[in-house]
Amino acid sequence: MKRRLRLGVVGCGEIARYTALLARFVPRLVLSACCDHNDEKAHRFARQFRIPLAFTEVEEMLETAGLDAVYLALPHHLHAGMIRRAVEAGKAVLVEKPLTRTLSEGVALVNWLAGQNAKVGVNYQYRYDAAAYRLAQAVRAGELGRVFSIRINVAWRRDESYFRSAAWHSRLDQAGGGTLITQASHFLDLALWALGEEAQEAAGWTATPRFDVEVETLAEAILQTEGGTLISLTSTMAAAVEEAVRIEVYGERGQAVYTDLPLPRLHVRGVRLGRHPLPVAGLHALQRSLRGFVNWVLDDQPYLIPAEGALVVLAAVEAVYRSAQSGRRELVEKIRIAR
Ligand SMILES: NC(=O)c1ccc[n+]([C@@H]2O[C@H](COP(=O)([O-])OP(=O)(O)OC[C@H]3O[C@@H](n4cnc5c(N)ncnc54)[C@H](O)[C@@H]3O)[C@@H](O)[C@H]2O)c1
Repeated sequence: MKRRLRLGVVGCGEIARYTALLARFVPRLVLSACCDHNDEKAHRFARQFRIPLAFTEVEEMLETAGLDAVYLALPHHLHAGMIRRAVEAGKAVLVEKPLTRTLSEGVALVNWLAGQNAKVGVNYQYRYDAAAYRLAQAVRAGELGRVFSIRINVAWRRDESYFRSAAWHSRLDQAGGGTLITQASHFLDLALWALGEEAQEAAGWTATPRFDVEVETLAEAILQTEGGTLISLTSTMAAAVEEAVRIEVYGERGQAVYTDLPLPRLHVRGVRLGRHPLPVAGLHALQRSLRGFVNWVLDDQPYLIPAEGALVVLAAVEAVYRSAQSGRRELVEKIRIAR
């Protein structure tokens, strides 16, 4: 068994800081290099997290830093191209969510990956949240009975600096959308993963309260899955005061409500759920996601979100956006992967 995974960070921005902090608490993980096209950011990041090598060119890092894997924390439109470059250089990849900016990019990438013998995971880290994981496993095991309804509420607050400090967040061609793809996709991913189903149909509305940007800062959607479950979702980054995320799951035998603050917890009524312990230990979901990735690359233990597993949520998100544009219900594109 190989002892340590040498990871290079690409994109030394907002989320990479949390990842680098938590990486200190992940056994067998060492941050060996970092890269940002902004020279000052790359070097500041390297100093702050005691990373020995800083680069401004990804190719140079991939060729010279002796890495096993890279963590990509980049604007969405760069994900697909950067994953390909890293895989071609023989690296495993942990990419931030969403897998890619669009579904067609994601499907093309996953089809290409099928011939590559590469490990590419997507950091939908809420799958590694203890309460969310338990909820998902309980739904999968049928402990709530047939689930007929899931309600998701994401009321987050971002201020002007969110768009000012990273202008790509405000641009459709770079982010692909706003609060739905960037924030709510975490929880829509959880819901679809728990059900083990694809969404089939979507009705969506989007709006942009509080900000003068191209992307939506409020999204409302109703989706129906293949099995007939209705998922309703409200997501905003324009709340005056941030609320806990809330996911309510209603099954024929019982119901469970997940909230993430002050600490992730499940409130269950009508049934007793199994314990469903997480496959990896740790104090924080992002830390556990990193640990899961390390165990995948070094020991071949399954990571909860391989690239292919992140397509279903992209398809659902795109259908909501199409519906918001057309004013009609839209069918969700079926995922077709060549095997
Ligand atoms: N998992 C989570 O909870 C979570 C939270 C926030 C953001 N994210 C995701 O993380 C990713 C990054 O988001 P962010 O908010 O940290 O963005 P950010 O803008 O703060 O950071 C992106 C960084 O990438 C750098 N960069 C841009 N182009 C580059 C290039 N060609 N080569 C090297 N560096 C380049 C920028 O200079 C910047 O420092 C997105 O996919 C976002 O959705 C995930």
